[in-house]
Amino acid sequence: MKFFIKTYGCQMNENDSEVARYYLEQEGYESAENENEADIVILNTCVVRKKAEDKFLSTIGELRKKNKKIGVMGCGAEKLKEDLFKRGVNFVIGTRAISRIPEAVELSIKGKKAAIFDDKLDEIDYRNILKRNSKHHAWITIIYGCNRFCTYCIVPYTRGREKSRKMEDILQEVKNLSLNGVREITYLGQNVDAYGKDLNDGTSLAKLLNETKNIENIERIWFLTSYPTDFSLDIAREIASSEKIAKSIHLPVQHGSNKILKKMNRRYTIEEYYELIKSIREIVPDASISSDIIVGFPDETEDDFQQTVKLVKEIKFERLNLAIYSPREGTIAWKYFEDNVPHAVKTRRMAYLLNLQKEVNKMLNESYLDKTVEVIVEERAKSGLFYGRDIRNKIIAFEGDESLIGKKILVKIKKTTAGPLYGDIIKII
Ligand code: SAH
Ligand code: SF4
Ligand code: F3S
Repeated sequence: MKFFIKTYGCQMNENDSEVARYYLEQEGYESAENENEADIVILNTCVVRKKAEDKFLSTIGELRKKNKKIGVMGCGAEKLKEDLFKRGVNFVIGTRAISRIPEAVELSIKGKKAAIFDDKLDEIDYRNILKRNSKHHAWITIIYGCNRFCTYCIVPYTRGREKSRKMEDILQEVKNLSLNGVREITYLGQNVDAYGKDLNDGTSLAKLLNETKNIENIERIWFLTSYPTDFSLDIAREIASSEKIAKSIHLPVQHGSNKILKKMNRRYTIEEYYELIKSIREIVPDASISSDIIVGFPDETEDDFQQTVKLVKEIKFERLNLAIYSPREGTIAWKYFEDNVPHAVKTRRMAYLLNLQKEVNKMLNESYLDKTVEVIVEERAKSGLFYGRDIRNKIIAFEGDESLIGKKILVKIKKTTAGPLYGDIIKII
């Protein structure tokens, strides 16, 4: 029996798909190249916004027509559970039960429906999961779940409470991966700065970064996603102390107005956010700070929106993910707040910010012109050019060949845009 896992949503799902694949291959199931060649198609799903949910639900409909066995894992499995059986799904498996996926597959092959939702996180054998979707980069989940309960967000309901992995286990995983050719890693958590707090033994993200930089052959270390009140300046100091730790901090602000931040239960004021950015930039002057912003949250007035505009103009984020508010069943905002910003107003505000951010990106990128940067090569883009990132998470495209993948090179930037930078290879390191 051949299986194929189709992954939606965030990087955590990417990592979970690698874990699921490992457990299925251990039991002798073969991974198919694409969904058409698979007998079993497993969707690793996201429900962060309605659009994401609709996307995988329509895929289920298509797969049914093709007579495939269908499994659902990820946040969609947690949200919709056994209701998915009515849509023709054969098994559902929770975000903490991935190591039991072979049982679910086996039951469904026998024609039975399976729903597995227990917490088996401690069982996951990360140290031996060496096959990753990329040969030189690995996603590494270090803390599961989220305790923040932002009023709009479904993640605490789909991923459960925060739970950190043991530091020795993570370091061993990284060592094993490094012996297998991995050069870059990304530490993951919905609130990655909370890493270690639940272990009560002094473990922290700063400590983990400090230990990781000593692992031979690991050339670059990333981490995602930071939460403003959990971010410790020790993390910034670690970045400043090592050329291996990426100067990239994804620090979602969500809004520029204190009234809305409070209603979102974000636990900081906009003044505190500005202050934090200032302190980070004092320690890491060229830090690349990126963010997420929600547009059209309940009760967002024109004045509130203008405060977000002011923030975007002043901070100058290196990258910004913008999303229109989407009510999610079960959350506080869905229960108690009326989704009262008209659709036309939401789309106008969204378009305004998209345009503004494009200008910011264009301006920030221009400072790269004629500079030479160190890039780790990722892959060939659709354009035919190869691309990779520098230590500030800039995407840089150049003429190259397959042999460069995973290597470090020096690129001289000859053209900038609001998106990628373009350059010529100067040297292969
Ligand atoms: N833990 C991270 C990311 C969570 S989900 C954080 O705290 O930022 C990724 C992004 O999706 C969020 O940052 C938020 O901007 C967006 N998002 C989450 N729920 C949403 C909703 N109901 N409607 C619109 N955007 C949402
Ligand atoms: Fe969702 Fe907030 Fe947790 Fe991020 S911190 S996952 S937005 S509840
Ligand atoms: Fe989506 Fe779940 Fe990630 S809702 S964004 S897949 S944590």
